[in-house]
Amino acid sequence: MEKQLVQEGTTVAPQSYKITVTATGPYLIFGQPPLKQLFIMPDERGNSWTYRAGKAFSTEHEPTALCRCGASKNKPYCDGAHASHDWDPALTAPVEALLDEAETIDGPRITLTDNEKYCAFARFCDARGRVWNLAEVDDPQAREDVIREANHCLAGRLSAWDQQTGKPFEPQWPISLGLIEDPAIRSSAGIFVIGGIPISTQEGKTYEVRNRVALCRCGQSSRKPFCDGTHASFKWKDGLGGTPNGEEF
Ligand code: SF4
Ligand code: FES
Repeated sequence: MEKQLVQEGTTVAPQSYKITVTATGPYLIFGQPPLKQLFIMPDERGNSWTYRAGKAFSTEHEPTALCRCGASKNKPYCDGAHASHDWDPALTAPVEALLDEAETIDGPRITLTDNEKYCAFARFCDARGRVWNLAEVDDPQAREDVIREANHCLAGRLSAWDQQTGKPFEPQWPISLGLIEDPAIRSSAGIFVIGGIPISTQEGKTYEVRNRVALCRCGQSSRKPFCDGTHASFKWKDGLGGTPNGEEF
């Protein structure tokens, strides 16, 4: 059996949790993780700053089938629409270690890694100034801002590293799934998979296990199963309604 890749700083979720990506249809969710809308909330300057929870959905049914083609009339669940919807379900993202091809910025107080192939266009990296510029600044506040911005990067493109310990800072948020809503651009977005839930294909290909992963649910990413930000270009809407009235992080 192939060795499972696990990104440094990721704690693999307990065995009951897993996501299987079917070849031409939904995501199958095992382990009953909490599933909620997560709204990207702006700060006073209008920049992406926190996530705030909205409506919750059951994952009691084991497995729970979540729509990944974007066309279900019963979102977030699959209703079989993928069979007649015009979309390309091909899983084009390779199984690879994200950090193998990441660029490293060694700043005076913090190290930042960046693999731009993994980006879900959530724009947390702009909140207090572009994270790449902040990493070059010799200032304790800039260091804190880099950690915050990188940790909120749902696609895992960015990681901030402690230069003393050589370890990444990773948020320890509870194992859960977030249906991302991005009101600032009037679009819904991918599924934020939090907390090291293994993701594999039906054929048994397992992607690198990471603490922060964004899965496509609009059906149009060109790097499936991962979200590549395409939803923003056509303002995809999941029609779930909901309001950001839950916990914030
Ligand atoms: S996914 Fe990460 S890198 Fe892409 S816009 Fe969001 S915070 Fe920035
Ligand atoms: S949900 Fe982001 S590209 Fe499909």
